[in-house]
Amino acid sequence: MTATETFAERLKKATWRDHEEAEQTAFLEALMAGRVSREGYAEMVAQHYFAYVALEEAGRALAGDPVAGPFVTPELERVPALEADLEELYGENWRDEITPSKPTLTYVARINQIAEWPGGFIAHHYTRYLGDLSGGQVIRKVAERAYRFGDAAGARFYLFSGIPDLKAFKAAYRDRLDALAPDEVEARRIVSETVLAYQLNTEVIVEIGKRLPEYLVA
Ligand code: HEM
Repeated sequence: MTATETFAERLKKATWRDHEEAEQTAFLEALMAGRVSREGYAEMVAQHYFAYVALEEAGRALAGDPVAGPFVTPELERVPALEADLEELYGENWRDEITPSKPTLTYVARINQIAEWPGGFIAHHYTRYLGDLSGGQVIRKVAERAYRFGDAAGARFYLFSGIPDLKAFKAAYRDRLDALAPDEVEARRIVSETVLAYQLNTEVIVEIGKRLPEYLVA
């Protein structure tokens, strides 16, 4: 870390290689190319659902925490959007149709494990929500085109209707990361947890990708 580097910059720099690994999984590359079927996309939404239930439950428990609390804002909440997307994708009995994969169970277990450590929660919060506000926006456009979702139905997860200016929101989010001003030991722990969060996400995607031949469309 250089003397002038902010914590947000440090976090991004220290984890960007892990970001690339996640982004370059065969499944996400095929998804971005519009080559994944609606079934494959639905499976990804289903796996997201289990992770966000855990993440947002942890968030509610930490809402009053002086360190983690400022990150927990209602406009980020994704579970209601995921529920609507799953109903669109699987029908009204969607709850009976979806099952967490083994890597998802591992990911959820880790979220639960760190749920009382504000820095750990922030690591997982950052990895998901800042990603949804970034690359997620590209995924939404691809999904809306590929699956002909009208009015974002099926991709509401990526639609942050409570955030009119994503760029400004992300800048304010990075300010919140900088305001953490963790000491060196805590900074390293948060960076390591973020690397782990990326890896857990990558494993979830790799698992979905095992069925890629089945999901590929011409
Ligand atoms: C199709 C796959 C993906 C694409 C195309 C993509 C693209 C991007 C882009 C362009 C940015 C930079 C935006 C900016 O600086 O404002 C970004 C940031 C980010 N992405 Fe992704 N991404 C993908 C997958 C993922 C995944 C799977 C995760 C994590 C699970 C993730 C997490 C993040 C995070 C946390 C940031 C914010 C980094 C920072 O500025 O500190 N992304 N992504």
